[in-house]
Amino acid sequence: MNEKISELRKQFEAELQNVKDAAELENMRVGYLGKKGSITAILKDMGKISDEERRTLGQEVNVLKNEVADKLAAKKEELARLELEEEINSTPDIDISIPPVLERGSYHPITLVQRQCENVFKSMGFTVEDYSEVVTDYECFEALNIPKYHPARDMQDTYYLENGQLLKSHTSAAQNAIYKKYGKDLIEKGVPIKAIFPGRCFRNEATDACHENTFFQMEGVMVDKNISISNLIYFMKTMLSEVFNRDIKVRLRPGFFPFVEPGFELDINCEICGGEGCPSCKHSGWLELCPCGMIHPEVLKAGGIDPEEYTGFAFGLGLTRLAMMKYSIKDIRDLNSGSLDSMSQFTDDE
Ligand code: DAH
Repeated sequence: MNEKISELRKQFEAELQNVKDAAELENMRVGYLGKKGSITAILKDMGKISDEERRTLGQEVNVLKNEVADKLAAKKEELARLELEEEINSTPDIDISIPPVLERGSYHPITLVQRQCENVFKSMGFTVEDYSEVVTDYECFEALNIPKYHPARDMQDTYYLENGQLLKSHTSAAQNAIYKKYGKDLIEKGVPIKAIFPGRCFRNEATDACHENTFFQMEGVMVDKNISISNLIYFMKTMLSEVFNRDIKVRLRPGFFPFVEPGFELDINCEICGGEGCPSCKHSGWLELCPCGMIHPEVLKAGGIDPEEYTGFAFGLGLTRLAMMKYSIKDIRDLNSGSLDSMSQFTDDE
């Protein structure tokens, strides 16, 4: 066998042993089989030798050429396999046979009652609106018939921003925007306004078991032609019966709020004693739950709705209060405590 060929074969074998990655392998391929590669060079030089020599040498070079090509291909596969193995081995150990540990979270009791109320109102055709927590004085007071220096503002001291805006002290602050948003459909197409808007409210308040500076309400309004107090009572009764899972008796007492006329305090019969009288209801058999009333004509006017033609009711349900009653939570401060131990006990039992 031609000495040059056996030299080349030895050299190739030695180099192949030391190849570490695909780039080095490619360099080798070019060095042997490329246009200027050493095997190609032998083939090119064959013109200079005798016919007989060329025949034997030609055969040997071709054998070497095929051998080199096959071994390069095999090495390429081997390197790819090694790379994959290394990748697999370098990932952290995962034991896929261990069952997943699913620690289910739970909803906050206020979220639970909010959703229950939302579902009931949605089923009665109300839309659920979202509203900002920072509002203007106009939205929170003026548009609700509470002018500057009105004594009703005393009850709703809140937190003010330097630009004069404030953290809303009640969800009624969204009423004006809702009337403006849906008033056109009411007037032009006769579609009644039926909306609820739950939200976080703030008051500058000294805290105790019954008072918090941050709490939740859910406001609701319905405006159409011929809306009366009986509509208000019907919707409130239906909603409360669903939330408490029993038929709820309600009663209305007169209450003053500048944005409704007439205004009421809505009481429900005490769920603890069933109306007999107990310490929770101060032995009256009734619990105060939801102020409400017929929307004041000035409030409708501020929202662009003609009070001569349309009437409506509004209510401001205390969601925090409702959650406390439904789940017998004695101290309002627990709700903002962030204590998972206390807050994770409640489940949606519906
Ligand atoms: N916004 C009142 C408050 O937080 C509650 C209220 C009373 C809302 C009467 C109403 C209503 O919609 O009709 O004190």
